[in-house]
Amino acid sequence: MIKYNTPEISEGVYAVGAKDRNRRLFDALVPLPRGTTFNSYLVKGAEKTALIDSVGPGFEQELLDKISSLTDLSKLDYVVMNHAEPDHSTALGAVVRESRATLYTTEKGAPMAARYSGVPAERIKTIKDGDTIELGGKKLRFIESPWLHWPETMFTYLEENKVLFSCDFFGAHAPDGTYDDDIPDIISLAKGYFAEIMMPLRPFCKKGLDKVAALEITTIAPSHGPVYRNPSRIIDAYRSWVAGETLRKAVIVYVTTWGATEQMANCIAEALAKEGINPKLYNLASFDMGQLAEDLVDSPALVVGSPTLFSGLHPYMNNTLNLIKLLKPPVKFGAAICSYGWGKGALKQAQEFFENAKIEFVGAVDSYGPPHDEEIQKITELAGQLAAKISAPVVN
Ligand code: FEO
Repeated sequence: MIKYNTPEISEGVYAVGAKDRNRRLFDALVPLPRGTTFNSYLVKGAEKTALIDSVGPGFEQELLDKISSLTDLSKLDYVVMNHAEPDHSTALGAVVRESRATLYTTEKGAPMAARYSGVPAERIKTIKDGDTIELGGKKLRFIESPWLHWPETMFTYLEENKVLFSCDFFGAHAPDGTYDDDIPDIISLAKGYFAEIMMPLRPFCKKGLDKVAALEITTIAPSHGPVYRNPSRIIDAYRSWVAGETLRKAVIVYVTTWGATEQMANCIAEALAKEGINPKLYNLASFDMGQLAEDLVDSPALVVGSPTLFSGLHPYMNNTLNLIKLLKPPVKFGAAICSYGWGKGALKQAQEFFENAKIEFVGAVDSYGPPHDEEIQKITELAGQLAAKISAPVVN
């Protein structure tokens, strides 16, 4: 058997999950430049042993081997399923088959454990918020936390060690290192993960943070990325992102066919920069979707730039706006810089997007072909209007 590393992240708590450094895409959508991790933890009490979450496809045997290196797998007592998504539940069926363990999950999680992981119904026990299981000198408390990130999700809290097993919440696609302080850019990676997975669910994140605030926590052990032994840093970052706190910046997404829209995008970026607003430009012909999502976490403004293509927005823009709609970023102000040749249409669709998303439409410039002095002047004025909005005190 391969000798695996199973770091003891807290007294009697071992990391037994897997690192998938070769995975490059999550949900067939999210870029994973460094890969990801599927974290799983073995908690050993004086009398009982519990496994918290499991791993994704392809890593089942690695998990079984790691558990077996620490305890007699056949005598494992409990399996806790915080979340049924296959990146955490795929190996649960094998763990239950190879052991005598009972699986604990929420009421909504029970049918998912049967369906996704093939766990027999008689081996599943449902919990209510606040229920506990005793391991002998160690007590696990279950805290329902729905929609972080599916309806069945929950946290598990190890009372004596003050360890929070938060599953996707506080996660990051960051396979390097074991602890947060091993990874210099961990907050940026966690921000990207938040953007893609948690930002659409901010009202539920707020409730999750309230539950976290009620706990004394020394360690956060999520199911992706490092273990936080400095939990206040990630909790504070989440508070800001969940509240939708924004910076003096503007995201500019554009498509260009013959250069007109790109000139306009560059023009508004320079004009915004002169106003003290940090422009973040994305040419949709070649861009990092993960980076765009991360930038949307704290951008108060979105500028849409597209040529008219057959009476509407370029398809790349439609695709991106659809994604932005799903992510529900805290954007408050919108503007459009469009161009047209033999027929208009892009600007109207851009305006409709902002109206439907309930984002204040600050203004637009529609250029017939490449922008000339008149359009450049209008774009400069539009940047000034946008900057004034961004700079104004926030009124809630
Ligand atoms: Fe990491 Fe929602 O699964």
